[in-house]
Amino acid sequence: MKKILVTGGAGFIGSAVVRHIINETSDSVVVIDKLTYAGNLASLASVAQSERFAFEHVDICDRAALDAVFAQYQPDCVMHLAAESHVDRSIDGPAAFIETNIVGTYQLLEATRNWWSELDAGKKAAFRFHHISTDEVYGDLHGSDDFFTETTPYAPSSPYSASKAGSDHLVRAWLRTYGLPTLVTNCSNNYGPCHFPEKLIPLTILNALAGKPLPVYGNGLQVRDWLYVEDHARALYRVATTGAVGETYNIGGHNERKNIDVVRTVCALLEELVPHKPEGVERYEDLITFVTDRPGHDVRYAIDASKIERELGWTPEETFETGMRKTVQWYLENQSWWQQVLDGSYQGERLGLKG
Ligand SMILES: NC(=O)c1ccc[n+]([C@@H]2O[C@H](COP(=O)([O-])OP(=O)(O)OC[C@H]3O[C@@H](n4cnc5c(N)ncnc54)[C@H](O)[C@@H]3O)[C@@H](O)[C@H]2O)c1
Repeated sequence: MKKILVTGGAGFIGSAVVRHIINETSDSVVVIDKLTYAGNLASLASVAQSERFAFEHVDICDRAALDAVFAQYQPDCVMHLAAESHVDRSIDGPAAFIETNIVGTYQLLEATRNWWSELDAGKKAAFRFHHISTDEVYGDLHGSDDFFTETTPYAPSSPYSASKAGSDHLVRAWLRTYGLPTLVTNCSNNYGPCHFPEKLIPLTILNALAGKPLPVYGNGLQVRDWLYVEDHARALYRVATTGAVGETYNIGGHNERKNIDVVRTVCALLEELVPHKPEGVERYEDLITFVTDRPGHDVRYAIDASKIERELGWTPEETFETGMRKTVQWYLENQSWWQQVLDGSYQGERLGLKG
């Protein structure tokens, strides 16, 4: 039984990781989260009553608060997901990305090193710091046969991906310089339950249900490799518990799709599941609206995930079709989750938080 400190555990992927650990393992979890606009305690409601779950409202840039968390909970493992994560926001205001993704990761590494260096030899060797990153650090691919591997050179395009690249370099340097037992994973685009509605798939679902335009950047031909978030959570737990120190693992879903096709898939699922449309809407697809492309928009991302499959035996359980159906159904069945995000009341939830 391990005690795992999960940073950013109230976010989209972090909450899936926490639900996986509480529901599928006997390990304990301590979530630390600043609860920015992207943090939502409602995503943790199903596990919040577990005796193996604890929450601390902490900013990873606050070194004193981090030291106190390590002293109180004495974790065996850190899974670091806290980040500013939305590319468009990084273009409008990069400062928060530099602060959390780079400075915050540095503060967390130092607090972890401080804690880890005092452990006895056995615990020190067993300790793990797992940094969760993105395939966007590799830049984009132009040839349709190319894939990102763990040795693809870094070439980030946006302030978001550049800040994540910086954090990846810090993590690897803390292993090389101080011997902190770190691992890094770089994953493709995730989708699934509890995804904040500013991202493509939930935005499309909710706008379609409301009869609003479905914005698609540029020509919609940008290709992303989509992974169902619960498959990602399983992969992350596998890496944190069985991955080799110092290694990097790419995680992907073998699901390359053009953005326009992703939007059309959502529309087709809604035609089937919600045939009664808002007034004036004949077909959900008619709501698709092409908008000015994002500056520096990467054309294609595609992951070669053969290393994690070969070395750790992980493969995704969901296909794009099964994962998308589950996702659309989740949004249809969990209206209160997204209504509270849309009307802002989800942020009031934090008044009742533990810790
Ligand atoms: N979403 C994707 O498709 C994707 C793909 C690959 C990798 N990633 C990486 O996975 C991680 C999680 O992504 P996500 O989509 O769940 O992000 P998210 O934006 O949904 O969640 C981020 C969480 O971090 C918290 N946070 C932000 N700043 C913080 C700070 N200073 N201190 C403590 N907590 C803070 C937020 O409150 C939120 O709960 C990120 O590191 C991201 O780079 C995401």
